[in-house]
Amino acid sequence: MGKFQLFPVQASTLAPEVDHLLYFLLAVSVFFTLLIFGAIFFFAIKYRRRSEGELPHVQHTGYTLEIVWSVIPFGLTMVMFTWGASIFFNASKPPNDAIQIYAVGKQWMWKLEHMEGQREINELHIPVGRPVRVTMASEDVIHSFFVPAFRTKQDVVPGRYSTTWFTPTKTGKYHLFCAEYCGTRHSGMIGWVYVMEPADYQNWLSGGAAEGSLADNGKKLFESLACNNCHKEDNTGRCPNLVNLFGKQVQLAGGGTVKADEAYIRESILQPQAKIVAGFEPVMPTFTGLVSEDQVLQLVEYVKSLGPKPAAGAIDTGTSSQGRPGAPPAIPAKR
Ligand code: CUA
Repeated sequence: MGKFQLFPVQASTLAPEVDHLLYFLLAVSVFFTLLIFGAIFFFAIKYRRRSEGELPHVQHTGYTLEIVWSVIPFGLTMVMFTWGASIFFNASKPPNDAIQIYAVGKQWMWKLEHMEGQREINELHIPVGRPVRVTMASEDVIHSFFVPAFRTKQDVVPGRYSTTWFTPTKTGKYHLFCAEYCGTRHSGMIGWVYVMEPADYQNWLSGGAAEGSLADNGKKLFESLACNNCHKEDNTGRCPNLVNLFGKQVQLAGGGTVKADEAYIRESILQPQAKIVAGFEPVMPTFTGLVSEDQVLQLVEYVKSLGPKPAAGAIDTGTSSQGRPGAPPAIPAKR
């Protein structure tokens, strides 16, 4: 398969940062390996036993030497730590204007969904030069979303959402792997990321046979599961009104609050008894086994689309060329 490459291409803003840190670690390791092995051979020869009766004379170690070889490695490891931690923190905080993509890992494929409703299997199309946030769930076991060209690798753990983000810097076609052994066909759980010029991406988005946006599909599902019988928008239902819920603090029965984020909404669908909203009875049945992770994502997007609209951290879907950072999602909330 083509020519041998020591490193994958650098195709994201993160890639050079990770590589520079790696070069530094490599240089430090090579330097000390050579220094230590050189010293071993040098001293072994210099202080070898020259005659049968020769006895070593007693040496006292100097404090200066002790301090020097403690302080220098300490300084070096602190450089490694702060450098690595700063890259890690940067790589774990997606910017607010990132394009939102959802990924569901299952044995043995990646299902990827765009906010506009385009679904892909083992393929992801994204525009160059825009940050992309991927929110991931697993249908079964642990998988890991790995794009070597972006230097991005994030475990996808069943029962929770994990997130990764990157800004692609070069158009092209890059490997997508599963980097966590997940069963017999783990090695076949591979795909491609296509980084496109923004105009090509717009064409791709409009050309795709979308079956309605994620939020639209969530609304349909919400109705077909009869959620709207209890979650009424006029506060007369037996269950909480979901309008303007997302991102707010929710008062719980028995005290305490919880932020209505993606994880909370997912839990409330799958384990409704886990957190009961103050003033409500625990009457909601569980939907575990009735809805798949992609359907949960659709429901989450539907709840998000119910507002509040331009909340801090709102996700710009990037569908529109006028898309300014922080613009409200281009989703019709209601029909
Ligand atoms: Cu999924 Cu390995």
